[in-house]
Amino acid sequence: MMTVYFKGFPQSDRNEDLKMVNVDELEEKVKQVMPEAAYYYIASGAENEWTWRNNTTAFNHFQIVPRALGNIDHPSTATNFMGLDLQTPVMISPIACHGIAHQDAEVATALGAKAAGALFTSSTYANRSVEDIAAAAGDSPRFFQLYLSKDWKFNEMILKAVKAAGYKGILLTVDALVSGYREANLRTNFTYPVPLDFFTRYLGGAGEGQSVAQMYASSAQKIGPADILKIKDIAGLPVFVKGVMSAEDAYLALGSGADGIVVTNHGGREVDTAPATIDMLPEVAQAVAGRVPIIFDSGVRRGSHVFKALALGADLVGIGRPYLYGLALGGPKGVASVIRQLNTELEIVMQLTGCKTIADIRRADIRHLPYTADNLPSNTDPSVRKAYPITQENQMQAVTTDCDSGASAH
Ligand SMILES: Cc1cc2nc3c(=O)[nH]c(=O)nc-3n(C[C@H](O)[C@H](O)[C@H](O)COP(=O)(O)O)c2cc1C
Repeated sequence: MMTVYFKGFPQSDRNEDLKMVNVDELEEKVKQVMPEAAYYYIASGAENEWTWRNNTTAFNHFQIVPRALGNIDHPSTATNFMGLDLQTPVMISPIACHGIAHQDAEVATALGAKAAGALFTSSTYANRSVEDIAAAAGDSPRFFQLYLSKDWKFNEMILKAVKAAGYKGILLTVDALVSGYREANLRTNFTYPVPLDFFTRYLGGAGEGQSVAQMYASSAQKIGPADILKIKDIAGLPVFVKGVMSAEDAYLALGSGADGIVVTNHGGREVDTAPATIDMLPEVAQAVAGRVPIIFDSGVRRGSHVFKALALGADLVGIGRPYLYGLALGGPKGVASVIRQLNTELEIVMQLTGCKTIADIRRADIRHLPYTADNLPSNTDPSVRKAYPITQENQMQAVTTDCDSGASAH
């Protein structure tokens, strides 16, 4: 393990399993391997970050009723999504510029997703080419996220390359028509440190070293039904509309021929004080009424969060920041570790609610008591744990063990 540098920017080249008690721990650890501006670009949200915080805390508005006599064991998290066989309902949501976290960027993430049997999504702002990612990921399923450009020649180049590289679907992002007001980026003057493949392919050198605001300026601010139809036509792939937070937008998306919906608020990076995604999921799911699949993301940090989103109508549940931290700390294996951690927690909840399959989770008993609930860390979390008192009475005695019998002798 060493740090490699891209034009002075440190990148991890790790590939190791991560030991963790929960995925939240990685947010602090990642600071050890990532420059401050890069960390804040990833970690931050818009304005006061109210939505960013509430995305996670609002999961507590919903409670899971345990079921003790479900008479099941060995729950399975395997699922089939649009004909794709997956080992987990946890998916990799699109994130720009994975080179910020790892030398092998999206190639490493795709390998991690493959190892965990999860769906991978590549961003328009990926460092590595869709062809490189496809070559590494082989037949492992992958989607592509499109930021629609004002320049349709650029859109066409992208969509044709994506289709040719065997991607199975498009997530058209409609909630980031401009960048949210992200103060951390302004304070650190963040620019993408590693070139983004589609921009260098199309713009040559002009695609390098752009700020987040510059990147967004080239993307279309006006997106309507005709665009969705045109994208479907060019790509010949199912198109999901990413950024639906209301029944009205869900109806508009479906009326425009969308093949799926992504309920997300972009991880709290766009409209601050937007509702938490989990609070809007029931409304959107009711509007969609099973006509198309639903992907959900934003704020997911627990297997129980995955469980709640599935119970309230999602078919897959995306994660963003946690896997990027996993990528920086452990490369492909680190990404897989993050997915497996959430999956392990999910299996526990499934067992304790009598859900043998992902489909069973749809019938789980979820209550809605929308009190404001802090999502405080547990008392055993290192961030709140005080130094443990040392007294004469609470100290262990040195023990010698009789290896043959296993009996201990004081
Ligand atoms: C650093 C970062 C970059 C992102 N880049 C993109 C992107 O290129 N395209 C996109 O549609 N969403 C992007 N998103 C949003 C994610 O797809 C996803 O909606 C969000 O991260 C989910 O929230 P979470 O990070 O709390 O899990 C980005 C999010 C982060 C944190």
